[in-house]
Amino acid sequence: MSRFTLGSTGHLAKDADCFESMAQVWNSACCKSHGFFPVTAELLKAHMTESRHWDPELVMIARDDETGRWLGFAHAVIVNEPYYPVCGSIEAVCVVPEARCKGIATALIGAGCVALRKKGMTRIDGGGSWPNCPLYATLIDGSERAGVATAEMAKVFAKNGFVPDRKSLRLRIAGNALFRLAALDLPEELKTTSFSRASETTWLDYCFRRWDLTEHHLCDASGQVLSRCITSPMRDASNLWGDLWYSIFAVFCAVAHRRKGYALSCLSYAARKVLEDGGKGLELHVLAENAPAIGLYTKAGFRKVGIASSMSLVLS
Ligand SMILES: CC(C)(COP(=O)(O)OP(=O)(O)OC[C@H]1O[C@@H](n2cnc3c(N)ncnc32)[C@H](O)[C@@H]1OP(=O)(O)O)[C@@H](O)C(=O)NCCC(=O)NCCS
Repeated sequence: MSRFTLGSTGHLAKDADCFESMAQVWNSACCKSHGFFPVTAELLKAHMTESRHWDPELVMIARDDETGRWLGFAHAVIVNEPYYPVCGSIEAVCVVPEARCKGIATALIGAGCVALRKKGMTRIDGGGSWPNCPLYATLIDGSERAGVATAEMAKVFAKNGFVPDRKSLRLRIAGNALFRLAALDLPEELKTTSFSRASETTWLDYCFRRWDLTEHHLCDASGQVLSRCITSPMRDASNLWGDLWYSIFAVFCAVAHRRKGYALSCLSYAARKVLEDGGKGLELHVLAENAPAIGLYTKAGFRKVGIASSMSLVLS
């Protein structure tokens, strides 16, 4: 493979092979080496084309000049959500391992920025900055967005003028550690309850409207909520993986009740419910500067499986 040509999927989007090629690139580029969950062409097609953010002119692709094979893609979108300033976003960039170090990712991001600029965008987020998560969060099914998941990728964004925003850690728990967490003694005087969260009542629900969220609460005798934890089954990924995994969207403890072990108890209770429902593991993202939460997850038995950074570019 010697040369590549950049284009967009604008004229290809109705072609089923387009999503097949995209899935092949994603699975080859992101799953084995970076631990992302695999996708199928059907999954991609459904999630992308159903989204109101879908614009095939913003999916940039690089193809091998000789074979026509897809070597990589960058997925740009315009984020227009009620709770977030309108901006462009490079949602995902991937290049198959055998075509790396040839400037393809840099060129794809550059092309995505040009396409977004043509559509009037003056700020572009790169690789994810929660809560700006219209597409890929649902594709990879994993709690908050990963951001730019590798140092190499961060360099590629930097070459296009992006600067780092915020780092986050990707944590997981499974196997014996999950059983140990679920087996912790809960304070006898407290009550626990779990219920499905009604959809579309807050911007959070709005974002996660397809995510089948369950709230787990730890309450005092009067019913006051001391701590809560929200989980969601990672169905698409689980179907492909064969094991049912859950993501954690939020853990919270009332300010007046912190450092009393309530969040840990609530996590333990959520882990019990997840195991009861056949779950084999839990995954989450947490901002790297959130020391209390990282302390909590470490104590609970979560282990780091990746690090990510969001990046942004402001155009004059
Ligand atoms: C993170 C949070 C849920 C912790 O709640 P909590 O009820 O105070 O936590 P716990 O009392 O169960 O603490 C369990 C362990 O977590 C760690 N931890 C909790 N707070 C900590 C802090 N401020 N600094 C360092 N470690 C901390 C400790 O290891 C602690 O065990 P220890 O008290 O025996 O040392 C709470 O600070 C919170 O609601 N923060 C805002 C929401 C948030 O950031 N959620 C996480 C998003 S991913």
